[in-house]
Amino acid sequence: MCGIIGYVGDEPALPILRTGLENLEYRGYDSVGVSLRGDEGIRLFKQAGRIKDLVLPDDETTVGIGHTRWSTHGEPTDANAHPHTDCGGDVAVVHNGIIENYDTLREELERDGHTFTSETDTEVVPHLVEERLAAGDDLPTAVTRVLDRLEGTFALGVVAVDFDGIVAARQDSPLVVGHGETGSFIASDVTAFLEHSREVTYVEDGDVAVLTRTGVEITNDGEVVDRPRDHVEWEAEAAEKSGYEHYMLKEIHEQPTALRQTLSGRIDELAGKVDLDLELPKEYLNSLDEVTFVACGTSYHAGMYAARLVETLADVRASAEIASEYEFDGGRDPWRTLVIPVTQSGETADTLSALRRAKRAGARSLAVTNTLGSTVTREADDTVFIRAGPEIGVAATKTFVSQVATLALLTVSLARARGVMSTTRSIEFLSNVRKLPGAVQQVLDAEQAIREAAEEHADDEAFFFIGRKLGYPVALEGALKLKEIAYVHAEGFAAGELKHGPLALVTPESSVLAVLSEGANPKATLNNVKEVESRGAPVLGCTSIEDAEKFLDVSFEVPELGVLSPLIANVCFQLFAYHVAKRKGRSIDKPRNLAKSVTVE
Ligand code: AGP
Repeated sequence: MCGIIGYVGDEPALPILRTGLENLEYRGYDSVGVSLRGDEGIRLFKQAGRIKDLVLPDDETTVGIGHTRWSTHGEPTDANAHPHTDCGGDVAVVHNGIIENYDTLREELERDGHTFTSETDTEVVPHLVEERLAAGDDLPTAVTRVLDRLEGTFALGVVAVDFDGIVAARQDSPLVVGHGETGSFIASDVTAFLEHSREVTYVEDGDVAVLTRTGVEITNDGEVVDRPRDHVEWEAEAAEKSGYEHYMLKEIHEQPTALRQTLSGRIDELAGKVDLDLELPKEYLNSLDEVTFVACGTSYHAGMYAARLVETLADVRASAEIASEYEFDGGRDPWRTLVIPVTQSGETADTLSALRRAKRAGARSLAVTNTLGSTVTREADDTVFIRAGPEIGVAATKTFVSQVATLALLTVSLARARGVMSTTRSIEFLSNVRKLPGAVQQVLDAEQAIREAAEEHADDEAFFFIGRKLGYPVALEGALKLKEIAYVHAEGFAAGELKHGPLALVTPESSVLAVLSEGANPKATLNNVKEVESRGAPVLGCTSIEDAEKFLDVSFEVPELGVLSPLIANVCFQLFAYHVAKRKGRSIDKPRNLAKSVTVE
């Protein structure tokens, strides 16, 4: 996830771009850059690091674009920082999103003599625009035509020597136009220009916005379209959170987008194949005896989820181990054991330490992380990025769903490499993976009912989360979220274990939250629901099965996605935790005693 901004008007562009980029830094801040378009042509200022470190001249140029980056393709280096330019430096582009077919386009452009200077997917865009300009198009036409060549998600801002303005375009990545008194703006989020303009137009998929000194024209498919103007009422602080009261709520709602980014360009659904760009050879994956996920907290729960997927679908022994407890022992063969550290930050000391123990024993490793350039990426043999975008709230939400989605893809890679998953089975599974963003959205759309239930039960004495199979890690994660941000007694149990002890804790003052979806053995869990009900406990269930609501005090519907349904149920638990914590007036984004990145053992 990155932030883009652009300005065309009467004022010097640089101060506007600088403040805008500062306001967009919550979207990523590992490298930064701006391009100015004026009498001296296109000038470029960019480098790894933050906007505060970028040295910019005193300058009166009135057209410019800027970018703050969260790396997905290529390390955070000066060369990979945006804007990117064509060969002659006559076109500059900022981009948020992922160009899925960039490697094919890059090969084609290199064959035609274009020289590339970065490892990014974005750089194909200025070269494609350059080709169209050379063929006689003006900039708006060139950008419109280039869009037909791009697959993936993007919000683009483009400037060129021969055009006194900015051309912007959107496909599945946020883009908003601002109409100010002194000029027009584009940005990933209104925060970027709120102090200059509160009149905005939200650009839609397929739209091309042309910003000149006379105003803004938006076209779609070559036809001029009339998009409404909105007036933004929010104050700057709320705008940073796109109007959400907390980053956590914003990040919960960002999950469909995060999932799209996670999956983007990695699935060939027709062939039932997955491409995670793994360096570990297929023969090695085929020879494995065992896969061990090492992780902490939420990432550990993602590892538990994945371990069950790997065992059932890839037919190899798999387990998740709490990183701080992990030892490489138990007669494992290091040559046939793949250790997978799962860590959002890539900096968790316990997880790094577990990885080092595994490496010392001779095992190979594959890091799964959100953070390019993090320590885990330097120490593991190979890395897969979950591409969820920056997560500011201490409570992990969107990164959990993106971790599990990434690990589900890894499971298919393993299963196919080992020859244990048929093409038909893989197509079926990947079709459910593809449906994840929409299914999560369905739960988000039902937030009101979850909020009401959370508010009604906020003062309960305790909360017990139960689930079986893939519902078990979700029960643990649901309880962790509630403890972490609401400071209440919450515990997750394997539903079948209730009767072996925890049932003694259940009273009419303790709510039980159950995972009753496919993938979580819902029929058996319903028996446990009846056990707690007969002790007077209110039961709230996330269910994808018919008639379950008869046994529940409150039911939340979860779309049916086979073994991925429990992952969707987790979104109900996130919202439940959030609204309990809000009702209790907790410090949701920065809960007491906790830190986002835990760098001590
Ligand atoms: C989750 O809400 C927590 N903040 C915490 O459990 C976290 O998942 C854990 O510290 C691991 O962090 P990592 O993914 O960055 O390694």
